[in-house]
Amino acid sequence: MDYDKLIQSALNEVQASSSSENLEKVRVKYFGKNGLFTKELKSLSTLSTEQKKVVGVKLNDFKNDFFSKLSIKKDEIENYEINKKLEEDFVDPSLPAREKNFINSKIHPISHTMNEITSILGNMGLVYEEGPDIEDDFHNFTALNIPKDHPARQMHDTFYLDSIEDKYVLRTHTSPVQIRSLKKKKLPLRIFAPGRTYRCDSDITHTPMFHQVEGLVVDEGITFSNLKWFLESFCKIFFKKDNLKLRFRPSYFPFTEPSAEVDINYKKVSGKITFGEGNQWMEILGCGMVHPEVFKMSNIKTNATGFAFGMGIERLAMLKYGMPDLRDFFDNDLKWLEHYGFSFFEKSDLSWR
Ligand code: DAH
Repeated sequence: MDYDKLIQSALNEVQASSSSENLEKVRVKYFGKNGLFTKELKSLSTLSTEQKKVVGVKLNDFKNDFFSKLSIKKDEIENYEINKKLEEDFVDPSLPAREKNFINSKIHPISHTMNEITSILGNMGLVYEEGPDIEDDFHNFTALNIPKDHPARQMHDTFYLDSIEDKYVLRTHTSPVQIRSLKKKKLPLRIFAPGRTYRCDSDITHTPMFHQVEGLVVDEGITFSNLKWFLESFCKIFFKKDNLKLRFRPSYFPFTEPSAEVDINYKKVSGKITFGEGNQWMEILGCGMVHPEVFKMSNIKTNATGFAFGMGIERLAMLKYGMPDLRDFFDNDLKWLEHYGFSFFEKSDLSWR
């Protein structure tokens, strides 16, 4: 048997292999169950001791050599194959998405309106904050100057999580984020906090879950005129009406003093509402100067003053985009979403300055 020739041809074939299958065939041909060398190794036992020493060592050395070259070649081929596949499957991430693929998916008006509000308030210098949906009684009420037995508690139609001694509630407004921010942040403070809120109420104008956004600005020398200017700027940008008028009506909230409700002007012609024109008024939000008790409850000793405001996101969306019924927001009706939803490709034209 001319081992040298066989060895050489085996090594040549490993070297010449250009695919994983090919390489596997070479392995089987020489070292498979009935491989040429497997047979030789098996027949070693028939040789004399002297021959075994020579041939056995030679064959075993070759076997080690064969498998180490095979493994190097295997890595080489696999690398090559992976790179080739990567090249063939290359996706250009800078390619624009195809609009037709998104035709049936729309951004929900709540998300869209929240994004708009976030973008405007962010550009006006407020920082995004959030608080928990499950809130404790202290943050939701007491710290906001609504002590136990205060009539304002009844107005909130609270969902109490009674398993825990009435201590926890589903937050009835986003105002508790004022307390959380005051407690953790250093002054000056400029934050806004959009999110879900809950009240045990359901009719055309109320759903048990709805959304609000809270705003809070605290610094030395903040006055009511800062608040007026801020909300006027916000509303003009949000409703895209430079001539929008705001009316501040005295009101009452336990956590602000003085407090106001804000109306915007509109006219209604043949059922169509136009903001910024006419002399009818529509309420859109509540606001005021932070009550000293709120600072006290947040352990803040300061000469700073602040303003706060809170608004309902569904209400803002309905006024801006004309949905007639609040409950539709949460019905998951695809036809409604198709009609009132927003394209992913819509460009925001809400500019600031
Ligand atoms: N939390 C009030 C509500 O849910 C809204 C509100 C009014 C928030 C006045 C404020 C504010 O920050 O100053 O009805």
